[in-house]
Formats: sequence, structure tokens, C-alpha cells
Amino acid sequence: MAKKPNQKQEVGTTGHQWDGIEELNNPLPRWWLWTFYACIVFAVIYSIAYPAWPGINRASAGFLGWSTRGDVAAEIATQEAKLGPINEKLAAAELTEISGNPELNTYAVSAGSAVFKTWCAQCHGSGAAGAKGYPNLLDDDWLWGGDIEAIHQTISFGVRSEDSDDTRYSEMPAFGRDELLEPEQIDQVTNFVMSLSGDAMDASKVAEGAVVFEDNCAACHAEDGTGDIYQGAPNLTDAIWLYGGDYNTVKETITNARFGVMPNWNARLSEAQIRAVAAYVHQLGGGE
Ligand code: HEC
Ligand code: HEC
Repeated sequence: MAKKPNQKQEVGTTGHQWDGIEELNNPLPRWWLWTFYACIVFAVIYSIAYPAWPGINRASAGFLGWSTRGDVAAEIATQEAKLGPINEKLAAAELTEISGNPELNTYAVSAGSAVFKTWCAQCHGSGAAGAKGYPNLLDDDWLWGGDIEAIHQTISFGVRSEDSDDTRYSEMPAFGRDELLEPEQIDQVTNFVMSLSGDAMDASKVAEGAVVFEDNCAACHAEDGTGDIYQGAPNLTDAIWLYGGDYNTVKETITNARFGVMPNWNARLSEAQIRAVAAYVHQLGGGE
């Protein structure tokens, strides 16, 4: 039988043949084999260096100590290092000068908006419009003052916060519960308070209520009912209500009083964050 051309005799066959076609036992190409070995070596090294082998609670850590969590931490650290200088500037600036410094102000308002969404929105609402018991921060009606310094102080030390000695504090007496006023007097002064915001009320009760107010309420809410920011006593003449302006709600406030509490944020946020969110709140529309 004639030798077939191109057939390397030394290779031999696998012994398989189909219709006269024999399967030669050629070795794998060199390049292919070495790539294959390289992959095995790579896989072994990789699985030692990086998290790979499943364990009961977590995979093996790998001797390089790399993790996606570590990557995020590093990214945050880089970001913080990048923002370090501007945060320092913000923390050191005069509060009243922030709004006049475009670089600081732009940064403060955008960083403050992020702080607000994370820490403040659950009480004051994501748009800062507030809710019953949680003041609206968009209007120019302020319990404790609406200039940047007053806002900064309120946020830093909170309101009636047990955890801060410097917190803003005042306490309206519970005139009904503690029997400081007769039910009849409470009815009268409720009529008077509602009349201050322009509600049409019983004229004789309003007149009696004015006397009760003068004696019991004016010290905090002022003679004319416009309130006092040094005691966090709301203006009762502007038809803007923290707790509600219908008869039953006003009567409830006078009977049992309220005791609105806001945490002191200096325990949780950095000075730069507090200033940022103060600047954010200040520019919302009601800032003085
Ligand atoms: C747990 C609920 C709660 C959270 C969270 C909260 N607040 Fe308050 N905040 C209040 C209450 C309640 C008052 C009103 C206290 C009072 O009756 O005087 C208030 C009052 C204020 C005032 C004073 C308003 C005025 O009229 O003088 C400012 C400013 C303010 N909050 C800003 C913030 C900022 C900024 C944050 C986030 C860092 C925040 N608050 C988070 C509950 C909260
Ligand atoms: C010691 C000061 C003080 C005295 C006295 C006082 N208040 Fe107040 N009042 C406050 C404070 C502070 C608030 C804010 C509510 C809170 O405690 O969270 C308030 C809230 C109110 C509110 C709720 C307003 C709203 O927007 O919902 C009404 C109504 C009110 N007072 C009426 C009265 C009347 C009427 C009297 C007198 C019978 C009186 N207060 C006496 C301090 C005082």
C-alpha cells in the first residue's frame, strides 16, 4: 500500500476508523497545551490571592485581603480626602459669610440637601414642608429664629433634647391636665386664640379669653400673640399651625401642652455637615 502523503508515520492512529478514514493520534498543539497549563496555574494563584473558596459563612478571604467592601471604603476615603479642604473651609467660615461665597455656598447647599434627605426628611418631609408637630422649614414662620445662626444652633443642639445640655428648651404648662385653668377658661382662651388668626368666634368668650391670655400666656406668646423665638413659642396670629388650628386641636394643646423634641445633631454629624444642612435650610425660602 502506497504511503499517503503528509502522513507522519511516528504519530500512529487511535485505532478508530470510519469508512476507511483513520483517526490519527496527533498531540495537542503546543500553544494550546501551554495556554491550558497557564490557565491552571493562574486559577490556583488567583484562588489563593483573592476570595474564592466557599466556606460556611463566607468565602476564603485571599491573602491580598481584597474585598468589594474594602473597595467601597477606599473609594469613600478618596472622596473624603478630596472634599477635606472644602469641608474645613466650610467649618471655619463665618456662618453669615457662607451665602455670599459662591464656591462655599454651592457646595454647602448641595451637600446639605444630601444630609437633609438622609437625616431630616423622615420628620420634616422630603420637601421640608413638615407635618403635624414637625415644623415646615419652607416658610418664614420660625419657632426658634430663621437667620443662619439661629438655624445652625437649633440643628446643632436640638430642641428639648435630653442628650444635650445646650439644647433649646422651654415647656408650655399643661393648663388643663395640671388644673391651672378651669375648663371654662380653657374654652374662652381657645376662642381667643382662634380669633387671633381671623376665625369668627363667640365675641363674649373672646373677650374673656383675652384676659386669660394676658394672665397666663402672654409671657411666652407675647401680649399680641405673635410669639417669642427665645422660648420657641409659636406666633398664634398667622394662621400657621404646628399642631393644628381647629377648636379641638387648639383646646388639646392648651389642656395637655405639647413637647416637641428634635435630636441634637452635633452628636451625629460633623460641623461641616451641620453647616451644610443649615445653609440648605436657610436658602429654602424662609431664611432671614
Ligand atoms: C425625630 C424628628 C426630627 C428629625 C429627624 C429632625 N427634626 Fe428638626 N425638628 C423636629 C421637631 C419636633 C421640631 C420642633 C421642635 C419644637 O416644637 O420647637 C424641629 C425643629 C427644627 C428646626 C427649627 C424650626 C423653627 O421653626 O425654628 C429646624 C431648623 C430643624 N428642625 C431642622 C432640622 C434638620 C436640618 C434636621 C436634620 C439634620 C432635622 N431638623 C431633623 C423634629 C425633627
Ligand atoms: C412657658 C411658655 C408658654 C406658656 C406660658 C404658654 N405657651 Fe403655648 N406654647 C409654648 C411653646 C414652647 C409651644 C410650642 C409647642 C411645643 O411645646 O412643642 C406652644 C404652643 C402653643 C400652641 C400650638 C400652636 C400651633 O401652632 O399649633 C398653642 C395654641 C398655644 N401654645 C397656646 C397657649 C395658650 C392659650 C397659653 C396660655 C393659656 C399658652 N400657650 C401658654 C410655650 C408657652
